Parts: sequence; C-alpha cells; structure tokens
Amino acid sequence: MIRQSVALRENAYDIYIREGLLGDCGALLRERFGESLPAEAVLITDSNVWARYASPMRDSLARAGIAFKPLVQEAGEGSKSLRNLARLYAAFADLRLRRDGLIIAFGGGVIGDLAGFAAATWMRGVRFVQIPTTLLAQVDSSVGGKTAVNTRAGKNLVGVFYQPALVLTDPALLAGLPAREFRCGMAEVVKYGAIRSKRLFESLRLAPDPAELCAIIGECCAIKAGIVERDAFDTGERMLLNFGHSFGHAIEALGGFHRHNHGEAVAMGMTLAAEAGERLGLTARGSANALREVLAAQGLETDCPYAPAALLPRMDLDKKNSDGAVRLVLLAAPGEAFVRSLDRAALREAMGGV
Ligand SMILES: NC(=O)c1ccc[n+]([C@@H]2O[C@H](COP(=O)([O-])OP(=O)(O)OC[C@H]3O[C@@H](n4cnc5c(N)ncnc54)[C@H](O)[C@@H]3O)[C@@H](O)[C@H]2O)c1
Ligand SMILES: [Zn+2]
Repeated sequence: MIRQSVALRENAYDIYIREGLLGDCGALLRERFGESLPAEAVLITDSNVWARYASPMRDSLARAGIAFKPLVQEAGEGSKSLRNLARLYAAFADLRLRRDGLIIAFGGGVIGDLAGFAAATWMRGVRFVQIPTTLLAQVDSSVGGKTAVNTRAGKNLVGVFYQPALVLTDPALLAGLPAREFRCGMAEVVKYGAIRSKRLFESLRLAPDPAELCAIIGECCAIKAGIVERDAFDTGERMLLNFGHSFGHAIEALGGFHRHNHGEAVAMGMTLAAEAGERLGLTARGSANALREVLAAQGLETDCPYAPAALLPRMDLDKKNSDGAVRLVLLAAPGEAFVRSLDRAALREAMGGV
C-alpha cells in the first residue's frame, strides 16, 4: 500500500492507495479513528457509484462494525448546488449529526466538493473522509482541501478550504469508469508530469497498464501534496496546478460547458500554453510537440477548435497585477513549470498575434 502524507500541521492527513482497498476501508477507518467513530457515520455518494459499489461498501463497513446512513445524490455536476446543499443540511439535522460525527465522501469530484463543503460548514466543521472513485478525484480533487458548490454566477464560487482527515483510494474502482471520464483524469496526470516530473511525463508516452495505476496515482498525489504543503491557501506555488487551465477554462466556456469536458479542454489548453511559451522563447523548443504526443497516447485531442481571438476574452486571467499584466503558467520544458506575468500585448504575441 502507498501511504502519502500531507503535512499540514494540525490539518495533516494520510492518503492510502491500494488496489482492492475498498474491501478494507472499514478496517482502515477503524484503525484511524478508533473509539472516536460515531454511532452512525454519514456517507454521501452519487447514484452511479452507489449502483455499482453499495454492496462492497456496506460489507466493508459492516465488517468493521461501522454503522452509516447513505445519502445518495443524483450523478452529475447539477448536484453541486446550493439547493442540494440545503437538502443535505436538512438530512444532517434529521440524523442529529454533530461535530464529532463523520462524513464520508464516496464518489468523484462532484461528491467530494459537495460533501466537503457540507462537512466544513455544518456546525463549523465535521470530520470528513474522502474515498474518491474517479481518476480525476483520485489524483486531484480529493487532495488539497478545496471544497465548493456552484451558483448561477459560476462554478465553485462558494467554497472553503477544508482538509479531509483521511483519503482512501482504490484504483480498482476505475475499472468501470466511462472511458471519457478516465481520459479526463489522464489529462491531469499529464499535467503533473509536465509541471514537476519529466520521468512521469515520459512514462505517459504509452497508455498506462492497469497494474501501473497505483504508482501513477501515488506520484500525482505526492506532487500535489508537496505543492499544497508549501501553499495551502493557493496564493503562490499552487498556481502551477493551473497549467493549461486558463486556456482550458476559455475552451470549456466556448463549448458551452458541454462540448468539451474539463480534461479535454485542459489537454488543448496545455498544448496552447506550451506553444505560447515557445513563441515567447521561454519554453524549450519541441515541448509542445512532446505534449501533443503524450496527450495523443492517452486518447486526448490537442487541436483547439477556437481561434485565439475568441479565446482571449474568455480566459480567466483575473489574477491581474495593478499594471494590468496577467499571470500565466508556462513550461521551461516538460517536467518544469513557472509563472510569468505578461501584459496584454505580450499575451497577444504569445498566442500568435491576435
Ligand atoms: N476540489 C478540487 O481541488 C477540485 C479539483 C478538480 C476538480 N474539482 C471538481 O470536480 C468535479 C469533477 O469531478 P469528476 O470528474 O470526478 O466528476 P463526477 O464526480 O461528476 O464523476 C464523473 C462521472 O463518473 C461517475 N462515476 C464516478 N465514479 C465512478 C466509478 N468508479 N465507476 C463508474 N462511474 C463513476 C459519476 O457518477 C459521474 O457520472 C467538478 O465539479 C470540479 O469542479 C475539484
Ligand atoms: Zn483541472
């Protein structure tokens, strides 16, 4: 089993990663929380995950003597809403959930973000465990403590940093994940390689063998943990995790948020960012091509269907300096990233002259 710690002083926690871990998650919860486990835990999941994994989860928790109440949400981004959050609070009240209770998020990033926000805010904070079930959640959203719900004004606008007490990751759960969702997670895996690990990046020139998934997820979590430890509240280094995302968010928006999923947009966005860096002479020549090859090996499209003039106004380069410069994550070469402030003119030039 891989054990990755996230060393955040009083908010420190461990990530356990092992093929088949679901069967032992009750025992691992018992080991971590001992006698402080509540009489009844609250398990928040979605309809797809519960349809597949209710039975092994029930068995695993029952074997460890852990009673729980499942709160099953409709699958999909729509569940990350204020309305749904209010429903959860009502359920917590009915269940008399107290601060010494336990909320288990069992699902993808939608469930992790929703349950995490509910846990952070109910009675100012209830213990919270992540059991991520998508590749995106296993390498990204379950680690680092960002929680949020969506509002009409935009995605993730209402949120808070709230770290889980434990993350339990079973790569075997990915076997039934739709191929498109798996690719979406692989885009984030490529991102970790691109910003921090040339070795991981190069290893992604072939689609991963299922037997390698544990090690790959472990490496991504180690990279994210290190960055989060140094910048828990996203004011500096954590920005590197946004590589490809400024362009990616513009691509998602131009596709009306349904044509491209997040990972598909980030794959194109990373390619655009590498091309921009090469144009500016800040990124080693050949980096964009290397990215294209690696992303293609993971089944991801790299050609952006939108012109730079359409992308530019949609880019969330809102972290502006007082002089109007924008900050963009660029690659020095695959395996190494940095943040560069560019004024509008430089950004236009970087995008090939808009
Ligand atoms: N908190 C963070 O740091 C962070 C980071 C990145 C993304 N996010 C958020 O994560 C969300 C996206 O997460 P996601 O991509 O996991 O989407 P998701 O949670 O909607 O899951 C994708 C789909 O896969 C299904 N599914 C989940 N696990 C499955 C399994 N094991 N087998 C079969 N089907 C399964 C789900 O029911 C859903 O239909 C977004 O809301 C995004 O804002 C948060
Ligand atoms: Zn992302």
